[in-house]
Amino acid sequence: MDAIQFKNNIFLLNTKNVSYMFRVDRYGHLEHLHFGRKCLLSDAESFSYKKKILHGDTIAFDKKNDVYSLDSLPQEYASYGTGDFNEAPIEIEDHGSYTLDLTYDSYEVIDGDTKISGLPNAYGAVSTLLVHLSDKVNHLHLDLYYAIYPEENVIARRCVLINKGKRVCSLHKLMSFSLDLCEDDLVLMDFFGAWDKETHLYERPISRGTYTIGSRVGFSSAKNNPGFIVRRRETGEDRGKAWGFNLIYSGNHYSSISKNEYGIHRIMSGVSPERFHLSLKSGEEFETPEAIMTYSPDGLNGLSQNFHDFINEHVVRSDWKKKERPILINSWEGFGFDFKKDDLIKKLAKIAAKMGVELFVLDDGWFGRRNSDKRGLGDYNCNLKKIPGGIGSLSDEIHKLGLLFGIWVEPEAINIDSALYEKHPEYALHEEGRDFFFGRNELLMDLTLPEVRDYIVDNVTKLIDDNSVDYIKWDMNRMMNAVSGVYNHEYIKGLYEVLERIFIARPQVLFESCSSGGNRFDLGMLCYSPQIWSSDDTDPIERIDIQKGLSYLYPLSTMGAHVSASPHMQTLRHTPLETRFNISAYGCLGYELDLSLLSPLDRAEATRQIEFYKKHRKTFQYGKFCRVSREDDYESFEVLGEEEAIVTKFRRSVHAVPIYDKLCVEGLNEEKDYKVESRAFIHTLKRFGNLINFVTPVKVNADGKLVELISKYRGLEANIQKYEASGAALEDGIILDPLFLGTGYNESIRIPLDYGSDMYLIKEKKNVSGKEK
Ligand code: GLA
Repeated sequence: MDAIQFKNNIFLLNTKNVSYMFRVDRYGHLEHLHFGRKCLLSDAESFSYKKKILHGDTIAFDKKNDVYSLDSLPQEYASYGTGDFNEAPIEIEDHGSYTLDLTYDSYEVIDGDTKISGLPNAYGAVSTLLVHLSDKVNHLHLDLYYAIYPEENVIARRCVLINKGKRVCSLHKLMSFSLDLCEDDLVLMDFFGAWDKETHLYERPISRGTYTIGSRVGFSSAKNNPGFIVRRRETGEDRGKAWGFNLIYSGNHYSSISKNEYGIHRIMSGVSPERFHLSLKSGEEFETPEAIMTYSPDGLNGLSQNFHDFINEHVVRSDWKKKERPILINSWEGFGFDFKKDDLIKKLAKIAAKMGVELFVLDDGWFGRRNSDKRGLGDYNCNLKKIPGGIGSLSDEIHKLGLLFGIWVEPEAINIDSALYEKHPEYALHEEGRDFFFGRNELLMDLTLPEVRDYIVDNVTKLIDDNSVDYIKWDMNRMMNAVSGVYNHEYIKGLYEVLERIFIARPQVLFESCSSGGNRFDLGMLCYSPQIWSSDDTDPIERIDIQKGLSYLYPLSTMGAHVSASPHMQTLRHTPLETRFNISAYGCLGYELDLSLLSPLDRAEATRQIEFYKKHRKTFQYGKFCRVSREDDYESFEVLGEEEAIVTKFRRSVHAVPIYDKLCVEGLNEEKDYKVESRAFIHTLKRFGNLINFVTPVKVNADGKLVELISKYRGLEANIQKYEASGAALEDGIILDPLFLGTGYNESIRIPLDYGSDMYLIKEKKNVSGKEK
């Protein structure tokens, strides 16, 4: 079936499982008809909102037609002034008038995708529909683009406004898309948060009125991710209708979802219109960022899979596209600013290399006067007191250990206490006549200036090229105050230009973007950085919510996830090493702690984890991810690969007298037989408190030095649980071995723990090797 069809003034866009339809009505307006299951051109009339009579006070568009009003017409891209009183996706002022009547002129079908000047967008569309609209009075033209990605059920939309009139107009708002849906009982799912608490899912039933999502911190922000979902009330993870939206943009954004008195939901997204004023002279144009839209009739997991496949295939680029990401060790949580080259080699790199880690990352603190976060940003000279011989010599030593070498930079920021600021104070973003406003003691560089962009490109490329750098962690640690509207948009375009010049030219470099954790986890950054540091919060229990929230919109191959020390630096929570690994495995695994402080037992455990992860890395990073239905106190994640599934049950808290507990696995062949085996790990002796006196020949103090010492070397191997069941039984859920009750212990008892977790590997019976059988 053709991706784009046009007949009798009806446009039908098709992906593998989804259709999108609209038509040109007798007045030249675009009437939206359908965004849902696959359908036919002949279905157009059945989707049309039928009106036999208008509300008493409605404005009729045509005095000779008393049943036609734009207020109750579902539209493709509405405007203001001709009877539509819903929120308009466009606001442009032509000498005091905001009226706009955009009507159809013509269309084009373009092979493949199109490019936006100065902004990244998705690539690899099969074809793009371009619909030309214009206002016949003021000669403002609007081009609507629909790029079709059939395999992933995605339609990417954007638009371009062109002033073909003679007068200068003032543009205040131009959304990337607008969509009018006739569906009832909808729930909005958005991803709200803060530093250390990113992408927490919030759900709000949509009643009458307007709901907004947005950012005014200068970046896409941890406060509100630009991605969101609208679902039917009854939709769950595995069934029901859901529509997903996201923006390929990293600056201030805005989305709104409103429901009017006719039951029509208008959804729109784009660059934030707050304080946005752009003067558009005759002949000038403004291009919006691209928005992506997807639909699934198969629940939220189906919707997420569309997003995941799309991002892996059409957003992420470079040599790292669809490539397994290396396991890394990062210096930050273990050492902060306080390190010497010897520490890095002895306490991190050498141990890490033995454990099977593949990439060493030197985080903040290696340059200029950077001994705290008060100074040094802007400078790139290596601190030779910390790293005698410089970055090149460290990189050589790391490479000799068989590891890749990575390094942290924060090029968009500048400290007043830096050599750069002394020479170029004008590089800092600052409002003339006002005080400085610092965030993490730093100012932002003015990326709208070409000389600032050149400075960053020159220094970062030199750092990479002169020191054989394999990986860059690009950080950005403050919000942007006093700069909004067009200036913010220009800053973001400046940032994209810099990233383009550095990274598109160096596709071999693995770029991980970071912004105080996940303050800029968005599709714009993913066009340059194949992975993003999800959060500074590495507490595994907090990570369940953060990574779960991210998983609705982004694939696991994009999420940086590290095992750090316990108790955790921010929550002070004690968590078992296996849970810290088990959550980090559902992402790009790394370790971020002083490895020399790990006990021999934990080091051996971490080595076992790394070995397991490498064996199943393709499944973890690129398998189909499912949020398996949530039970009280548990959260379950699944990845389904070509030959295996891996399901982990994360426990929040333990209760006395536990009831049976089930393992559910989705997406298997119901008629085939499978073997299920839990991942091996060790319980440390300290976990058992005084119970160890049941097995020791002499009475010992469970809190004493002896148990402490033994716990560093010896533990209790957890019982490996083994089950066999059909795909159908696993889909429904099989009952697991009993949990410890305090009344006895044998080889089939599972030991529960607050914050404990169990990871299960599921393979088809005939694929399990003789030895494993
Ligand atoms: C930010 C990042 C951290 C670390 C520090 C270094 O907070 O999110 O991962 O790189 O900066 O200063």
